[in-house]
Amino acid sequence: MTDNFDLNHWCDLHLARVEQALDNWVSVDASVDQGHAAPAELMQAMRYAVLDGGKRLRPLLVFAAFEAVSSASTPARVPAATDAAEAALRAACAVELIHAYSLVHDDMPCMDNDVLRRGKPTVHVQFGSASALLAGDALQALAFELLTPDASVVPEGRQARLCRLLARAAGCSGMAGGQAIDLASVGRVLTEEQLRQMHQLKTGALLQASVMMGAACGDASAQAGQALQAYGAAIGLAFQVVDDILDVTADSATLGKTAGKDQAQEKPTYVSLMGLESARRYAQTLYDQAMAALAFSGLPNTRALQGLASLVVQRSN
Ligand code: IPE
Ligand code: IPE
Ligand code: MG
Ligand code: MG
Ligand code: MG
Repeated sequence: MTDNFDLNHWCDLHLARVEQALDNWVSVDASVDQGHAAPAELMQAMRYAVLDGGKRLRPLLVFAAFEAVSSASTPARVPAATDAAEAALRAACAVELIHAYSLVHDDMPCMDNDVLRRGKPTVHVQFGSASALLAGDALQALAFELLTPDASVVPEGRQARLCRLLARAAGCSGMAGGQAIDLASVGRVLTEEQLRQMHQLKTGALLQASVMMGAACGDASAQAGQALQAYGAAIGLAFQVVDDILDVTADSATLGKTAGKDQAQEKPTYVSLMGLESARRYAQTLYDQAMAALAFSGLPNTRALQGLASLVVQRSN
């Protein structure tokens, strides 16, 4: 990484912004501004799912990609208030809302049946299955509401591009499709190609979309766009490979979710397919691919993207 770039400081700055914005937007007050007050209990379940926890990797990727396409060399500071910066903040929150909804549903008894998430009881344990289902539904809708403010706040063309990227990544050819493959694969042995496709869809798509949404808030050249697409694909897949590894190597307290679930539930994973050491090597190969893509991008300021790629592979939770 480039000298004098402090990734922790950069992350702290951007995390503070995203936490504050989520707290404002996922609230009864915000729902009143939009028309009708949301039922208090539904909002309580939504806030429980979104606030207070989570690494916020997807929002950080939005900010990092936005920064990469916006400036020759930006010091680690909050971007100036422009409609592009506003769009990036909205995109960062929107992708986190989709992610939070996917976790709420992923944990439900009809899917992975988990009781612990982000160090707390899962949403369905705390509020019941019907509320968990509805909280997920409402978080998904709120994500798209955030992306479509008045045209004076974010120009309509940019809104449409962001909505398309997020919808594709979340839907049947993205996260939801990958989750369907995951459930249909329980107890089966997948080929490497089938496993890669499942992981790319259920997890990779949304991470890649985070990068592309950040890029869509600025003006990326065709070459930079292509490179960021490749970067996003590589770290998106690496992220789930590492998730598979941590399920085996980390404990529940560190993860904030139940360790050892994949084997217990007979989920095909990179560890079950190729063993721990090969899975680790594969994650490293994907990291190298992500860094090579950045080198090809022609973008002068990819320090945050580089730092986040190494976090994806080296994380402990
Ligand atoms: C967990 O995602 C689910 C997967 C896609 C593997 P994260 O590990 O990003 O979860 P949080 O947001 O930090 O809780
Ligand atoms: C979840 O994959 C992916 C999504 C939520 C879309 P996992 O089922 O492996 O995630 P964890 O391990 O429960 O966080
Ligand atoms: Mg799952
Ligand atoms: Mg799960
Ligand atoms: Mg997992």
